[in-house]
Amino acid sequence: MLRIENLTVIRDGIPIVRDVSLEIGEREVHVLLGVNGSGKTTLAHAIMGIYPSKGKIVFLGEDITHLPIWERARRGITLAFQEPARFEGLLVKDYLMLSSREKDMGKIKEAVKTVGLPYSILFQEIGDNLSGGERKRIELASVLLMKPRLAILDEPDSGIDILSFKQISNVILRMKEMGCSVLLITHSEDMINIADRATIICSGKVAKTGDREEIKKLFKYSPCPLKR
Ligand SMILES: Nc1ncnc2c1ncn2[C@@H]1O[C@H](COP(=O)(O)OP(=O)(O)OP(=O)(O)O)[C@@H](O)[C@H]1O
Ligand SMILES: [Mg+2]
Repeated sequence: MLRIENLTVIRDGIPIVRDVSLEIGEREVHVLLGVNGSGKTTLAHAIMGIYPSKGKIVFLGEDITHLPIWERARRGITLAFQEPARFEGLLVKDYLMLSSREKDMGKIKEAVKTVGLPYSILFQEIGDNLSGGERKRIELASVLLMKPRLAILDEPDSGIDILSFKQISNVILRMKEMGCSVLLITHSEDMINIADRATIICSGKVAKTGDREEIKKLFKYSPCPLKR
């Protein structure tokens, strides 16, 4: 459903993502592994259209390489940021209503519960009053409510306590059940365990794509086998 061909992303004159090719199938959870600074977030932003790129991105049979962010969003791509934004003055319930496809308060409450938050959070502002983990969970709830075709989740587990990793993996499996494909950036083994396939990215390049167990082993043994 997503095909990336020879994608290169240059930031301030430096190639950060280099000649990356990757395919994600329907309802596939594809994990992107890589050490800090390997280019995972840059690749995620390029797929969303936040950063310009060279190469080709085909989504559901359509070449979207030159489409702006909102056109990609309209076609069903969404990105949950590694560092979720703060929206001082905006209540959680209003934020979720904006993201929600069905605009139904019952569904919003259900999503809040699914990501492990209390209903009382709906009446709080999305600002510094919330913890990092709470903001990550709100972001995941908004992705659930958007019902995207492709969710790019940039470390949804970061800032989340280890005890809740299972809960976050269940949310991702729920997305898959809803017919969504997921590109999942993570460092956590619990998350890798729900992947169908995985890719190691190293110095901005694809080192290897394969099935979960193969890639897990390879990553443990050699997290970045390529040199710049
Ligand atoms: N505008 C820029 N100019 C120069 N270098 C940049 C720029 N933006 C990002 N980089 C560098 O590109 C590399 C990849 O960054 P990126 O945020 O994509 O890594 P990442 O794999 O998501 O890392 P992490 O696991 O820490 O989140 C880093 O070394 C970063 O410093
Ligand atoms: Mg990152």
